[in-house]
Amino acid sequence: MGACLLGFRDPDVTRAVQRRLNLGSICGLNPPDEVELADRLCEIHPWAEQARFVRGGGEAVAVAVRIARAVTDRSMVAVCGYHGWHDWYLAANLGESDALRGHALPGLKPMGVPVELRGTTVTFTYNSREDFQTILDRCGDRLAAVVMEPCRRHDPDPGFLEFVRDGAHQHGALFIFDEVSLGWKLCYGGAHLKFGLNPDMAVFAKTLGNGHPIGAVIGTAQAMEGAHRSFISSTYWTEAVGPAAALATLEKMGRIDVPAHLARIGKKLQEHWRQLAEKHSLPVWKQPLDSHKLTPYNIQHQKG
Ligand SMILES: Cc1ncc(COP(=O)(O)O)c(C=O)c1O
Repeated sequence: MGACLLGFRDPDVTRAVQRRLNLGSICGLNPPDEVELADRLCEIHPWAEQARFVRGGGEAVAVAVRIARAVTDRSMVAVCGYHGWHDWYLAANLGESDALRGHALPGLKPMGVPVELRGTTVTFTYNSREDFQTILDRCGDRLAAVVMEPCRRHDPDPGFLEFVRDGAHQHGALFIFDEVSLGWKLCYGGAHLKFGLNPDMAVFAKTLGNGHPIGAVIGTAQAMEGAHRSFISSTYWTEAVGPAAALATLEKMGRIDVPAHLARIGKKLQEHWRQLAEKHSLPVWKQPLDSHKLTPYNIQHQKG
């Protein structure tokens, strides 16, 4: 799932977690670790000024969407990618078609999602300007946010991300990057730093705590204003193990070159798969190396 980029049971992260447990892990007030984590994330992302913390990826994106809806006073969201299990996202499949096919698993049933949410979330295809333009033409003035992963299986076509960001802004919507899966794999701080494009909000989870539950929404002060307008709160959001794990993870990921290591072992793994496929006469393909998803995820195995 990409939750432990530093590896299972990393000793430095474990030490920080044990220290925090010994000091006490929860209080109704924000722990100092959380304040330090907010400062650290805003240092790594100079465009961001505020942060909110949750304990999971889907939850973090749901918070970002709530903030965007609160700040724009609009409902609709355009998405490109997988963004969790919550009602706002699964609502995309309340329409006639399997809209989330190609973004999440095909055939996801929106059972239990209120039908009244139909039409509130729409999807567009990565690298398709036409698709996104159609959404803008149809309902741009009702969009609260555009939520997308900075890249999916391929790098962005030149100008694509800028086109989406500018289109969102021209129509008064916020531009949100979901870095839950991708963040820190391609670049310390997230893929958007590699592509040189600042969003209004960015969302992190998974490896932020190297397997310990922590999720973050960071944003400009203007975008995050919605967090003050809405009610967004949970008891366990002030536990301190998640932030302590995140601080230790960030410190270590800042010291070592994680993206280079991932590229190295990813290549090695792909080569092993290729050799095995050859040895056993199995038809196996891999996607181009510009893909951010590591093997064997990208290896499609066709039944003989
Ligand atoms: C891009 C992206 N967003 C959101 C999520 C949801 O995160 P979580 O499973 O921690 O709720 C995932 C999980 O795979 C993801 O890949």
